[in-house]
Amino acid sequence: MKKVRKAVIPAAGFGTRFLPFTKAVPKEMLPIVDTPTIEYIVREVMESGIEEVLIIINSDKECIKTHFGHNQSFENFLISKNKTKELEMIQALPKQVKVEFTYQEEQLGLGHAVLCAEEFVQNEPFALLLGDDLYVGKKEPATKQMIQAYERTNSSILGTLEVPLEDVCKYGICSPIKETSNDLVELKSVVEKPNPQNAPSNLAIGGRYILTPTIFEFLKTQTRGAGGEIQLTDSILRMMSKEKVYALAIDGKRYDIGSKKGFLEATIDFSLAREDLSKDIKEILKKQML
Ligand code: G1P
Repeated sequence: MKKVRKAVIPAAGFGTRFLPFTKAVPKEMLPIVDTPTIEYIVREVMESGIEEVLIIINSDKECIKTHFGHNQSFENFLISKNKTKELEMIQALPKQVKVEFTYQEEQLGLGHAVLCAEEFVQNEPFALLLGDDLYVGKKEPATKQMIQAYERTNSSILGTLEVPLEDVCKYGICSPIKETSNDLVELKSVVEKPNPQNAPSNLAIGGRYILTPTIFEFLKTQTRGAGGEIQLTDSILRMMSKEKVYALAIDGKRYDIGSKKGFLEATIDFSLAREDLSKDIKEILKKQML
């Protein structure tokens, strides 16, 4: 079995849900406290043992590249001011993980974005992480749980969560082969953004995948689906005719950073978890409750 060594993070979308902010700044750069959301995603990748990361951007999103690169003049400034802690903060990430970039200039859908990663992935299984979904794993990072499930099954894995029935139209929805209380279940189908009346379950794909390279065969011939977009979910469904696909219930808390509520919740929770901020944020929240 081939090891999962690579991760792909699509970050070329427009981010219309966060206008006007996203007119000039990519949504992936929205900070949770003081750190861009995409850095949390890259840290999850690193903590899961992945060696190489590809971020898919477009030419309006060069600042994501800047964030993961070296900034010599900023580093020189910090050195001249003896700000070693701050220097370490901006130097650490580029040292720890190799981040590469590729461009998706046309926004044709998630399936199309993933296809842009084919050259990077080659013939290996890979992790796919969507930037709108931020996880705080209970014991292990979400991607590490996904890799462990892949190692148990040698098959593609979709990370899932249960959502209220009225929300199924926002997700890819899974249909397990049989009802079971196991965390890991084989799937018979998936459908992108169904109406609640037609949904096979309330088991939603939550922005984490391990995919075998077979997916590219299907993405290449994928026609447009829900919302007129080339949907990854549709290619996963077609891939099921050739290979098994499993769903893993991710053990951890998920924040939907693409929604304002999820973004605010993450900001509060992450502040509460920080030693340097928890006292202040508790005071602020307490005042609001009075
Ligand atoms: C995408 C996927 C969908 C998945 C969701 C998770 O949809 O197409 O299957 O459930 O991410 O966040 P999007 O939110 O980009 O419309």
